[in-house]
Amino acid sequence: MSDRISHQGLRGKVMSADDAAQLIKPGDQIGFSGFTGAGYPKEMPGAIARRITEATERGEEFRINVLTGASTAPELDGVLAETGGVNWRAPYQSDPTLRGKINDGTTYYSDIHLSHSGQMTTQGFFGPVDVAIVEAVRIKEDGSIVPSSSVGNSVNYLQAAERIIIEVNEWQSAELEGMHDIWLPGLPPARQIIPIEESGQRIGKAAIDIDPAKVVAVVETNAPDRNSPFKPLDEDSKRIAGHLIDFFEHEVAQGRLPENLLPLQSGVGNIANAVLAGLLDSKFENLTSYTEVIQDGMIELLDNGTMSVASATSFALSPDAADRMNEKASDYAKKIILRPQEVSNHAEVIRRLGVISCNGLIEADIYGNVNSTHIMGTKMMNGLGGSGDFTRNAYISTFVSPSTAKGGDISAIVPMVSHVDHTEHDVMVIITEQGLADLRGLAPRQRAKVVIDKCAHPDYKEALTEYVERAEKQPKVGMHTPHDLREALGWHQRFLETGSMKA
Ligand code: COA
Repeated sequence: MSDRISHQGLRGKVMSADDAAQLIKPGDQIGFSGFTGAGYPKEMPGAIARRITEATERGEEFRINVLTGASTAPELDGVLAETGGVNWRAPYQSDPTLRGKINDGTTYYSDIHLSHSGQMTTQGFFGPVDVAIVEAVRIKEDGSIVPSSSVGNSVNYLQAAERIIIEVNEWQSAELEGMHDIWLPGLPPARQIIPIEESGQRIGKAAIDIDPAKVVAVVETNAPDRNSPFKPLDEDSKRIAGHLIDFFEHEVAQGRLPENLLPLQSGVGNIANAVLAGLLDSKFENLTSYTEVIQDGMIELLDNGTMSVASATSFALSPDAADRMNEKASDYAKKIILRPQEVSNHAEVIRRLGVISCNGLIEADIYGNVNSTHIMGTKMMNGLGGSGDFTRNAYISTFVSPSTAKGGDISAIVPMVSHVDHTEHDVMVIITEQGLADLRGLAPRQRAKVVIDKCAHPDYKEALTEYVERAEKQPKVGMHTPHDLREALGWHQRFLETGSMKA
């Protein structure tokens, strides 16, 4: 038996994943660890999926509700979705199989701000958590557990759960111990001020206290986190990064940002990762980060000293970078802090530190509203994630995207977004490979001009300008935010009918 299980009583609870899966009941609401392909349980989801499949083959209904930190991996979201047995899922996902089930109506998906999801569970808003299934690096003598490569919502789920199953994963470096900072603000009316005044500050414990009496099983595993490699940097991503870095330099010159900027938040996805890579070649030094995920680009910034410290709730590393992290975890623990996502994404800290946010988008409209989640207004892509947590509270909120998608048939700049995640009131800067639209202080009609001039692809510029001109001539139109309401979503309809937004 693994020497990573130091609690005597819990050593007696070790069993196979298939035996532990027998403890899961139809209708259970399960809170899993895991955030962006890091720190999710590796064997239990597959064992539960086998149970569901066997029950379904016998003609019995066996469906579960699944809560996590954020997206996970094929071994969790993929295998469970495959069975059709996921009834309800929150708060974020990016798995192709699960996405299919959400979009064909099999699975209900509640797309929730990541900072809210843990506290909403604790507040009882989703009903009881029947089981928490959490990956750990080790179980300490007192039963407390050292989380692995993410913290996510594990603390909330472990506190709320009636039953607990712990996976102790030997693949995860034991030296991750010391990287975590476990602290939660509690519930109103006694909720506490979060005493974080700089990204690198630790305020909590290195392990999660649990009630060992609630543990019904411990499962030993030895399996890697499964993150996808990032796409190689293309010319467009490099241009986007270049525009953002020029903007930072301009803001420093104007005295609106300090020389080492303010703590950076970088969203998920290829473009956000490319922006971090761009900073590697910039003149900035001594950067800090207060973000939710640590991607390859950020590890490189930490490695070469451009960044001094990074606070997050999880890793989102390519397989190569994850191996490097495992080899040198104790070194990285000096400059990386993993916190519960309720703290890593908390409005209070983001606003206090003055975080600069940078997230991807699906589409933005000429007035600066942003859709991060829906394809053509109805199909879920991934989810909102932490983009709302950061955008709404950022010192400067930025969004990055190529100006077109699907070989140029889709314009990322549209007359009206087909779904709104971030309103014009929160979006300060939009960047495409074409340029950067600084929307701070601009009224809607001024915004439209800048967004079209700076961000739209040349193939769509004229059509967007003509749209605004037509909108302004509509009878009874309000000249604050002019729209031709019959045509506002016409580009999306045209794409659905012809396969292109082009007229
Ligand atoms: N219509 C249709 N598809 C679109 C699209 C649009 N307007 N815009 C992008 N896409 C597709 C791309 O074609 C690509 O598809 P592929 O995987 O089949 O190639 C996919 O979306 C990803 O786009 P890409 O340009 O590579 O950007 P990305 O990897 O940076 O992801 C988001 C962009 C918006 C999907 C991603 O940032 C996201 O999920 N954001 C929401 C959550 C978030 O912001 N989290 C961060 C919080 S800290």
